[in-house]
Amino acid sequence: MNDKEIKGESISVRHVKKEFKIDKEPLVVLKDINLEIESGDIVSIIGGSGCGKSTLLRLIAGLDVPNEGEILINGKQVQKPSVDVGVLFQESRLFPWDNTEKNIAFGLPESTPKKTKKELVRKYMDMVGLSGFGKALPKQLSGGMQKRVAIARTLINRPHILLLDEPFGALDAFTKMNLQEEVVRIWKEERMTTVLVTHDIDEAIYMGNKIIIMSAKPGVIKKIINVELPEPRSRTSYDFEQIRLKVYKEFFGEVSAQEDYAI
Ligand SMILES: Nc1ncnc2c1ncn2[C@@H]1O[C@H](COP(=O)(O)OP(=O)(O)OP(=O)(O)O)[C@@H](O)[C@H]1O
Ligand SMILES: [Mg+2]
Repeated sequence: MNDKEIKGESISVRHVKKEFKIDKEPLVVLKDINLEIESGDIVSIIGGSGCGKSTLLRLIAGLDVPNEGEILINGKQVQKPSVDVGVLFQESRLFPWDNTEKNIAFGLPESTPKKTKKELVRKYMDMVGLSGFGKALPKQLSGGMQKRVAIARTLINRPHILLLDEPFGALDAFTKMNLQEEVVRIWKEERMTTVLVTHDIDEAIYMGNKIIIMSAKPGVIKKIINVELPEPRSRTSYDFEQIRLKVYKEFFGEVSAQEDYAI
């Protein structure tokens, strides 16, 4: 297998229930979640705060276990975190005392030979557009650049599955659009199965082949919308707007194209 042929793995979520206890009171966070994500696909999950999106990602990542049901990756039940599953959290979680190169290299197993480490760090630094900033500390980088370091650190292990939990939430609109394009470009090259959790409807449409809409209390999948748009996607196209209206309709009922919206 050469570098560009990473084949993502399929994800099956079957009858998953997740319950937490808060002050001894049970709280059903996810109820009968069923989801099939094909290998190499990219899907978005969107839904209001507290509907269980992060919980679902944590279950897929093997960071927690469901109370009922099961999650399969390539047909095999998830029981613990795997190096083949990369997770990118909302906060960049970089080591402030380590420079870009060291932060990115942290994603690799310790046993990786020094020369291979160096080559891979350079490759992924280039891939996310950070060449020339290898020696910079996180505090010497902009928010968007820090996010790029975090992306490179997650990708350097060449995960078969990439889970993104509101990764661009805190960034300005331009940096956000830029990074969305970068991640889609990398996904097209590497084809790792990608699941993006977001609050941003345009981001969900721009990046996902499917949009999984969740609703809360308990968290359930309300609707799945297929995104069939010509590539490269244009955020201002008529077809994009039609999908945007479909998604808004799920959250706000019937709307017209002229109205203003807020979640
Ligand atoms: N470890 C935990 N213990 C108890 N309750 C939890 C725990 N983790 C999450 N919850 C509860 O589960 C519910 C869903 O949380 P989750 O973080 O999955 O929501 P979310 O959809 O990601 O929300 P947001 O969009 O705000 O990030 C919340 O009501 C939260 O209080
Ligand atoms: Mg969350």
